[in-house]
Amino acid sequence: MTIDPAILIGTPTPRVDGVAKVTGAARYASDEQIANPAFACLVTSDIARGHITGFDLTAAKAVPGVLDILTFETVGNQVKSPPGPDGGPTTTTLESNRIWHDGQIIAVVVADTFEAATEAAGKIRANTVAEPPSASFDAPGAEVQAVAPGRASGPAEDDHGKRKAAAAAFAAAPVKVDAHYATPPQHHNPIELFTTTCAWDGKQLTIYEPTQFMWGLKAAIARQLAIDPADVRTVSRFVGGAFGSRGSVTARTAWIALAAKRLGRPVKLVPTRAQGFTIATYRAETRQHVRLSATADGKLTSVFHEGWEVTSRPSSYKVAGVEATSRLYASPTIATAVNVVHADRSTPGFMRAPAEVPYMFALESAIDELAYALNMDPIELRRANDTQTDPVSGLPFSSRLLMPCFDQAADKFEWRRRNPKPASMRDGVWQVGYGCATSFYPNNIGPAAARISITPGGRAHVSMAAHEIGTGAYTTIAITAAQALGLAVSDVIVQLGDSELPPVPPAGGSNNAASTTHVVVKACEEIRRRLAEAAVQAKDSPFHGGDPATLSLSGGALRHANGQSEPLRKAVPRTGARLEVYAENIPAGLSADALARLYEGRPLMSRGDSRKDVTAYAFGAHFVEVRVHSVTRQIRVPRVVSAFASGNIINPVTARSQYMGGAIWGISSALHEATEVDPVSARLINTNLADYMVPVNADVPSVEIIMVPEHDTRVNPLGVKGIGEIGIVGMNAAVANAVFHATGKRLRELPIRAEHLL
Ligand code: MOS
Repeated sequence: MTIDPAILIGTPTPRVDGVAKVTGAARYASDEQIANPAFACLVTSDIARGHITGFDLTAAKAVPGVLDILTFETVGNQVKSPPGPDGGPTTTTLESNRIWHDGQIIAVVVADTFEAATEAAGKIRANTVAEPPSASFDAPGAEVQAVAPGRASGPAEDDHGKRKAAAAAFAAAPVKVDAHYATPPQHHNPIELFTTTCAWDGKQLTIYEPTQFMWGLKAAIARQLAIDPADVRTVSRFVGGAFGSRGSVTARTAWIALAAKRLGRPVKLVPTRAQGFTIATYRAETRQHVRLSATADGKLTSVFHEGWEVTSRPSSYKVAGVEATSRLYASPTIATAVNVVHADRSTPGFMRAPAEVPYMFALESAIDELAYALNMDPIELRRANDTQTDPVSGLPFSSRLLMPCFDQAADKFEWRRRNPKPASMRDGVWQVGYGCATSFYPNNIGPAAARISITPGGRAHVSMAAHEIGTGAYTTIAITAAQALGLAVSDVIVQLGDSELPPVPPAGGSNNAASTTHVVVKACEEIRRRLAEAAVQAKDSPFHGGDPATLSLSGGALRHANGQSEPLRKAVPRTGARLEVYAENIPAGLSADALARLYEGRPLMSRGDSRKDVTAYAFGAHFVEVRVHSVTRQIRVPRVVSAFASGNIINPVTARSQYMGGAIWGISSALHEATEVDPVSARLINTNLADYMVPVNADVPSVEIIMVPEHDTRVNPLGVKGIGEIGIVGMNAAVANAVFHATGKRLRELPIRAEHLL
């Protein structure tokens, strides 16, 4: 495969699906037109722990139009439970009478209309025996379990004396920070609800559902229903936000499939916003302990980071962010530990930069505390501990432009105007604070397949089961194919979001840009090769008898550097009416069966933090100004400057949106968001978008994004690093650091609100 990374250096391109989205033509899963659907409504538990002794369904069944009611009594374990986000066990729903958490699905009502299903669901009475639940950390009955600090599940590793070495270095150091931090539970709240529509045609099942993994959903539901995956089709042409919440299979899907089968009629479920808080996953609350020590000139001598994360009773899912934080700065001793705390809660899961968002809050806050302890500028402290070598593995970073990100963002932000003394800067009634923090995220790439055809008229069709979760996938794929085939972006038609198309990995871990572009370029190269070989063999071609390797595609023609060209309308018909190729790509370092595994819905991934040749991360720096009102203690964020070096940027338009959305969400993580869990009942309190605080336009006046040019030839052939998650990482710490600078008050628990500054 010959790939020229230059083809992907992006020109700003508007979204190819933009018009469809803003005019309502884009079909989200529950918009698909299905003939004669019945409607489902979920009944969820109003206790967090206990069991169901029975139901009174009389009033519900009397509602006109009610067709079926599924409970553990009527269906039980006809469906296998889905795996948790880590592939391990998770809570069950209708399989048994057990209640594991607040808001668990305990019944599904199906009726002729949405209104009848909703009315009947409200009339179902569940008789339950409640037990006192453990809501979170410190609750009686919450069980702490030490786990391996890496991504893999298993027992906590022997730390080979690292903890002892770090403790000794810490004890001996002249300057140190020893602090505890905490982050709250958070929910993704994508605007598209957690809908599912299932339709059977004989033994063939079609599932319309917003998902981040078309082929994974297909395989998982087949396993749950014990049917052939070849009989399951998943469709999800557009996804209205995902952020990790559609990365794992949840219980609802198989139940809706079963309901449709029992009824012999399609069933559509559109759950409520409140139900979205408990039937899907979330970011669990964490507690963290960080110890840093340094020499008087700011060289780290030890890093210690331990985390505690809440999970459900049966699941040991964890984000284990110490795997990331331990790689950030050079230090002779690094020790980490992770614990999960089992409570009577639903199983958490992936949420935008699952590991880095909570854990970088702690690390980057502690680095800022260390800078004050050293009386050193926090940028200079990071420079003193910058490294081109992964401190854990000893491998080189594929590229690392952390300090250029800091320097360019600091310059634009005018960091030099900062008086480092806390509570020293004022503008009238406002106390002004400047803060900064590091951002980073590993670069992942997986196997992928694609089908591309080209017509004599010079139009290309690209098909793959990739996911448009708002990131701009239709556009990045169109740009890539257009550049590789020498066509205009408007001449490329992209079809995604259907498991009838070749598989790509889950749209998680910021891998999809890298995974999809590499296979698209490979397919385009195959098209070029076939056209060129047919041309050199054809007597009527100007290239007859030439070397096919010297021919390239541009401007709708096959060309030679000497200026000769032949339009596609002549070159394509030689290969048949329409030239179609299918290509597969397996990234370096993955086994030969990676594609076969992907077809089974099991994605193998080349991960930036577990490669054998390099450690591959993207880097960035956030700068933020906060203003704290001297009387009311209201906290405002008037401006943000963030710089990122994330390899080749395919489309600066959508990239900027990703970075900016991430930065804004980071402000949200710092100042706004928290799911409130009642400590006695373990029920979620603010399950709506009025009480679950998120920033609106007035909360975020100015966000400037700097894209630091970076051409990384080691991360992958096209130099594409993912950007979906890095934007949010570290922003919560930058805000907390700015709050400290404004007020002199160090707040180590998120979210930070006015009452904490009184
Ligand atoms: Mo993302 S949280 O890896 O879907």
